[in-house]
Amino acid sequence: MAGIELRQLRKSYGAFEAIPAIDLTIEDGEFCIFVGPSGCGKSTLLRTIAGLEDASAGEILIGGEEVSRRHPGERGAAMVFQNYALYPHMTVRQNMGYALKIAKKPKEEIKTTVERAARTLGLEDLLERKPSELSGGQRQRVAIGRAIVRDPKVFLFDEPLSNLDAELRTRMRLELADLHRSLGVTMVYVTHDQVEAMTLADRIVVLRSGRIEQVGSPLDLYENPENLFVARFIGSPSMNILKAETIADGIRLTGLDGPPLPRPDFVPAAWRGPLGIRPEHLRLHPGGMEVRLRAVEHLGDVTYGYATLSDGTELCIDLQNHRKMAAGDSVALAIPTERAFFFDQKTERRLR
Ligand SMILES: Nc1ncnc2c1ncn2[C@@H]1O[C@H](COP(=O)(O)OP(=O)(O)O)[C@@H](O)[C@H]1O
Ligand SMILES: [Mg+2]
Repeated sequence: MAGIELRQLRKSYGAFEAIPAIDLTIEDGEFCIFVGPSGCGKSTLLRTIAGLEDASAGEILIGGEEVSRRHPGERGAAMVFQNYALYPHMTVRQNMGYALKIAKKPKEEIKTTVERAARTLGLEDLLERKPSELSGGQRQRVAIGRAIVRDPKVFLFDEPLSNLDAELRTRMRLELADLHRSLGVTMVYVTHDQVEAMTLADRIVVLRSGRIEQVGSPLDLYENPENLFVARFIGSPSMNILKAETIADGIRLTGLDGPPLPRPDFVPAAWRGPLGIRPEHLRLHPGGMEVRLRAVEHLGDVTYGYATLSDGTELCIDLQNHRKMAAGDSVALAIPTERAFFFDQKTERRLR
């Protein structure tokens, strides 16, 4: 068991700095998830920890030991990839036991270890099959099994569920949560899936252009985003961002006609900037600000309405259980100020 510490870790490809410099401590036993838009450096960071990429500078500590110069196999980390990376000509048993065979472990030990991992993952009956005879979910389980048999100090997952269909993804997500509970081992997990991040993580690390924007528990990031980027990135559907400004008697929203919102104390008297409000926090309020719905999506448990405001801003509204609503209808909205987020125009930091 071991935590991970990154100290001033940098990774460049030629002149391009994929990771300018990261400091991060991941606790022993923690489930830590890296999220961020495509190309922000999630895989690079994970691969650098694993040793599949050489760090350009800085230190990587796993279980308190500096490993940044060590061969990937000698870091105590096992990685699971999105595309499974199984050997097609080997059976499940051979795939799972391969690392142990290379390490010259006794045959009997390999057998026991592989079979124990297979039981954990429900693969007992598939051990003699080839990868081509398995479903996507089963292949991903084999890839995880191959990591488990190495008894690593830390598991590194790079979008392991992205190739699976929605139903299987949900099942595998729950299995991964169980696995983490039963092994109690440190897991670092890259995903761009909101639900995976929110449900699996002890802590989420939000990355943007190779830099950490914020680290926190899922609910902390949802309730207390420190800046506009995190506010937009965490939450599904995304937070609405409106243009707003302080006027004499409160806060006026561009694009929405109605009475001004009360101005919280922390918002300066001469403020203009983005105001954020989540779809689920907009209230339907007779006599409120009128918007015409351009589209309505009925998802069964929830209904979303979409409107384009007069200044072009797109608004998404959680219509709760208003099943009768349809495109073309108008709704009257209120924005509860205590649920709104106010951002500095220039720095995009949240005012509070
Ligand atoms: N081998 C490489 N050579 C040059 N640039 C790379 C290489 N691998 C990744 N990059 C660049 O580094 C950035 C981060 O990539 P990556 O870590 O794969 O992003 P993510 O996993 O978050 O989508 C991207 O701009 C990507 O183009
Ligand atoms: Mg990636």
